[in-house]
Amino acid sequence: MYKFLVTGGAGFNGGNFCHYMVNKYPDDVFVCLDALTYAGNMETLAPILDKPNFSFVHGNICDRELVFSLFEREKFDFVVNFAAESHVDRSIENPRIFLETNILGTQTLMDACRKYGIRRYHQVSTDEVYGDLPLDRPDLFFTEETPIRTSSPYSASKAGADLLVMAYHRTFGLPVTVSRCSNNYGPYHFPEKLIPLVIKKALADEPIPVYGNGANVRDWLHVHDHCTAIDCILRKGRDGEVYNIGGHNEKSNLEVVRTILHALGKPESLITFVKDRAGHDLRYAMDPTKIMTELGWKPQYTFETGIGPTIQWNLDHQDWLANIISGEYLRFMEKNYRRN
Ligand code: NAD
Ligand code: TYD
Repeated sequence: MYKFLVTGGAGFNGGNFCHYMVNKYPDDVFVCLDALTYAGNMETLAPILDKPNFSFVHGNICDRELVFSLFEREKFDFVVNFAAESHVDRSIENPRIFLETNILGTQTLMDACRKYGIRRYHQVSTDEVYGDLPLDRPDLFFTEETPIRTSSPYSASKAGADLLVMAYHRTFGLPVTVSRCSNNYGPYHFPEKLIPLVIKKALADEPIPVYGNGANVRDWLHVHDHCTAIDCILRKGRDGEVYNIGGHNEKSNLEVVRTILHALGKPESLITFVKDRAGHDLRYAMDPTKIMTELGWKPQYTFETGIGPTIQWNLDHQDWLANIISGEYLRFMEKNYRRN
């Protein structure tokens, strides 16, 4: 029996990970620590709240006293850190909270790991730490050796955390792994990110805001496959290693928007080109060879097989959407799109 701390488990990726792990490993115990920011919602955890191997703690990963007392009480074997400020557009509006949560929060967790001892600290990171690739070089991909070259305050804060994690491994011998995943989509995705935003707006027959000319490329991986990859790294990954996660599903933003509009039977005339994001990364594309060959991980979904069920999930869970939309979210939306 292992005891896991999952931070940020009330958000999109962390929530899906908690669902997956709690059901897959009934003999292991999972504690979720989450500050319930605008992006975190108990509604996301509702299906597992009654499970005997799951419990929830409301708190901030930067709160040293709380984190240390939790570690002292629970004696965790594994720590998986999903907790983060995660939206690039918000990091352009207000970088500071990204540095606090994403870097100092990570440090607080690792200090607790050092003091109380753990089998493995896993840092959930992102392909965005590698910057971007040109649109006219489809032969180029991010590998684990690609230099860190960040564009936004969000990606800079994630890269800072990654470097700190590797420093704690080298300097203090902390057993760590880092995963860098491409863009995710799937159930419980907060509706200010592209895919759930497009579904929500299309259903309401509202204009779909596409930044710039819509040619920017993202590499889309279903969140289920992100969860299985992290599980695989926790079980089989080597200490001090970085693993890229992706499935070669590159799509331009326009292709993604058109796919969703067609699936919902909505007209392309809803597409509205708006002012580009500052510093907008052109193309992300992951090379997942290392995790596939060394650890034997394989994704279950392609974009083509994953997007249909994701649209259907959104259609079936409009109550979830209605319940999580807070006043803070509405204020952000108004401010973000007013700048166009
Ligand atoms: P999210 O914004 O949906 O969820 C973040 C969660 O963290 C929320 O539940 C929030 O309440 C919680 N949180 C925020 N600050 C906290 C704090 N100080 N203390 C405790 N909890 C806090 O994010 P997501 O999209 O699920 O991303 C989760 C992780 O996965 C992030 O580290 C992100 O960098 C990484 N990631 C995301 C993607 C993606 O496409 N969404 C891709 C690759 C990596
Ligand atoms: P997003 O979901 O914010 O993820 P990230 O910036 O981390 O990749 O955005 C995905 C892509 O969609 C990105 O190129 C920006 C673009 N985008 C739009 O064109 N319109 C929108 O309203 C949003 C939110 C994003």
